[in-house]
Amino acid sequence: MSANPIYERLVHYRDLIREITDFEPEIAITLGSGLGNFADNIEVVKTVNYSDLPGFPCSTAPGHVGQFIFGMLGGKKVACMKGRLHYYEGYPMSDVVMPLRLLKMLGAKTAIITNAVGAINKNYKVGSFMVSRDCISFFVPSPLIGQNIDELGPRFVDMSDLYTKELREKVKAIASREGIDVNEGVFVQLTGPQFETASEIVALRTLGADCAGMSSGVEAIAGAHMGMKVCGISCITNMCTGVTDEKLSGEEVIEVANRVSRDFEKLIKLLVEEI
Ligand code: HPA
Repeated sequence: MSANPIYERLVHYRDLIREITDFEPEIAITLGSGLGNFADNIEVVKTVNYSDLPGFPCSTAPGHVGQFIFGMLGGKKVACMKGRLHYYEGYPMSDVVMPLRLLKMLGAKTAIITNAVGAINKNYKVGSFMVSRDCISFFVPSPLIGQNIDELGPRFVDMSDLYTKELREKVKAIASREGIDVNEGVFVQLTGPQFETASEIVALRTLGADCAGMSSGVEAIAGAHMGMKVCGISCITNMCTGVTDEKLSGEEVIEVANRVSRDFEKLIKLLVEEI
């Protein structure tokens, strides 16, 4: 048994879930803000509430329920994380990535990570999508800081194919076939919870970022650490601060994400079928 307390917690939660279900997901899907209804597409085998796992961190963000939903989608065994933990809620990064790590330990080899983002790239449109080609995450602490969990992956992790090319290509092919507006670009994770200032957006554009969000980069890193194939798909809910004169709000983010959820669900469903 590893002396690493984070790994010990993970093993404990894995064993608790194993007492509830022997379901082994192939694909883990993290649902972003406003996208929680996606789980309605799943033929549910078992639902596990985060609150069924004593001491497991619970999401407090609006629209994030805090459930693992295990079941079938497009002929594949999937696990949806309905309710994500955000760094801005005050959780350490090791808690933020705990649900994904747990799903890997239960069997998942692929992670589809979704979120709501603001567009930095002026050519992007509200209500369209971005598949991540790469990520800038150095504005937030690495989820791998601390004693390495050797059981999960190596100390130093290659980041050259953080978002698996094969999955990105599949998303783009599905999008063009189905007439869904998807750009491929660079995602930047910030801590939030405040939206960025206009000057920060100018700086981030200079760095090469196309979209900004408050989650997901660290989950992609934790997935890559564990050798998972990772795909990041973002719903563009607004243009970032200063790109237009519009003021930003959390309500608007959720409203736009809900409005385009049909296309988003289609994209993810078809991707799952083709994996
Ligand atoms: N910035 C950061 N995160 C976001 C945004 C944004 O403009 N929109 C949705 N999530």
